[in-house]
Amino acid sequence: MISFILNDRLVRTEERPGMVLLEFIRNVSCLSGTKDACREGECGACTVLLGSPEPDGSVSYAACASCLLPLGEADGRHVVTVEGLSVEPLTLVQRLIVEHGASQCGFCTPGIVLSLTGFALSSPSLSYEDAVTALDGNICRCTGYVSIRSAAGALCEAISGAGKPPAGRLDFMIKAGVAPEYFRGIPARLGELEASPDLPDGKAVPVAGGTDLFAREPERLLESGLRFLSRRRDLAGIREDRGFLRAGGAVTIEAFRNSAAVLRHFPALAQDLLLHSSAILRNKATLAGNIANASPVGDAAIILLALGARLTISGEAGEREIPLEKFYLGYKRTDLACGELISAISIPLPPSGARYHFEKVSNRVTLDIAAANSALFLTTGPGGTVSGLRVSAGGVAPVPMLVPGLDVFLGRSPGDALAEDLAAAAMAAAKPIDDVRGSAEYKKLLLGRLILAHFRALYPGEAA
Ligand SMILES: Cc1cc2nc3c(=O)[nH]c(=O)nc-3n(C[C@H](O)[C@H](O)[C@H](O)COP(=O)(O)OP(=O)(O)OC[C@H]3O[C@@H](n4cnc5c(N)ncnc54)[C@H](O)[C@@H]3O)c2cc1C
Ligand code: FES
Ligand code: FES
Repeated sequence: MISFILNDRLVRTEERPGMVLLEFIRNVSCLSGTKDACREGECGACTVLLGSPEPDGSVSYAACASCLLPLGEADGRHVVTVEGLSVEPLTLVQRLIVEHGASQCGFCTPGIVLSLTGFALSSPSLSYEDAVTALDGNICRCTGYVSIRSAAGALCEAISGAGKPPAGRLDFMIKAGVAPEYFRGIPARLGELEASPDLPDGKAVPVAGGTDLFAREPERLLESGLRFLSRRRDLAGIREDRGFLRAGGAVTIEAFRNSAAVLRHFPALAQDLLLHSSAILRNKATLAGNIANASPVGDAAIILLALGARLTISGEAGEREIPLEKFYLGYKRTDLACGELISAISIPLPPSGARYHFEKVSNRVTLDIAAANSALFLTTGPGGTVSGLRVSAGGVAPVPMLVPGLDVFLGRSPGDALAEDLAAAAMAAAKPIDDVRGSAEYKKLLLGRLILAHFRALYPGEAA
């Protein structure tokens, strides 16, 4: 039995946990405001809010693509569709959309309203930039983004007086007309629901964000046993621990990107991870899911390889730790035994003066898988010469690749000559194939250019 609150209504259902939420909302609950379009996470027409109870008694809301969200994920949570906001009068976001002429045919509008409402309830900064980022997965094909952004700007002004920590913001948002009054009672009502626990089961498919699984094989998952890792408190959280930043195996890309510890030690990641998918996917997609799906171009995997991440893997036999580069055994093959999970990802804290840079080439800036991507991490010793060097490359081998044999560059000075030699070494190690994203030859050349681009960004004016 799956129990959750859909808008203002308690739902108890025996439908299968692997049914996608979009299907349940439209075809079982007959709520047609949530639109059904690409079913691949690419358009945002199906956006809903998913409210999860937090240990402090509040509920945190995240805008998600309901076409990739299994019904089982809703268990014990609050799901909000546009009907759940459409309590007279219009909410503030809906009113601003009307006033700014930000809707024409209206097909994308429910998704945009939900994404902006999610922004108001959960953005750490409530900045205009964050509002625009919150919309990066909502595609509009007729209004044009100028008026949508102008409505977003007006929203930011209207809610600028809200407190910064999202947990204490609900009262303000209800008074401002962003959320309907009934939201006030949701934390207590969710407290009375009991979500099913995640039980270890070697045969069940671990679902983290589901953004990869449900885009690839929704029919198979309808029939499968599933484990929902987002229910596991022990897989949540990001903390500093004895020289490492440790992220749990269910930490989402968005939570990681916005975490205070990440912003302190790896500030560039806040922008770099914006190149991963879109807000409505990053709110569910996890770092561990990106690693475990073993895509040769996984953005988080490529970044974490260069940063020297280590994985904690847990299973019935206990816990073990391995460097990320040892995790990949071949195309889509990993060192995970049946029933094992990535329970944590540990990244060494960088020494002062360390330099890091990430590059991604894709057809579109957001919502696109890379043709090739690469990250570089470099430390220097007392004379300014290279004391440590890690370079990763995606899309040029069957697995996310850590470029081997870079010790020969230790002791050299960063600059043009090193950049050229390193580019040549990376291209020699690469073994790309021809595919829809480009020919093998093109991807090899691209990798060389990405290496030069790292140096150009890190040493402006010095490298080629
Ligand atoms: C429209 C769209 C755009 C995308 N854009 C990008 C992009 O720009 N860059 C990019 O890199 N990827 C992209 N992706 C792919 C996908 O979103 C990412 O790889 C994402 O990080 C996967 O994480 P998840 O939590 O959703 O994984 P899930 O789908 O939940 O799981 C993926 C795999 O990992 C396994 N798994 C998950 N967590 C664990 C764990 N803790 N331990 C063991 N196994 C586990 C699952 O069983 C499954 O086999 C995109 C996908 C879509 C649909
Ligand atoms: S239907 Fe397009 S993102 Fe879900
Ligand atoms: S208003 Fe028509 S697609 Fe956006």
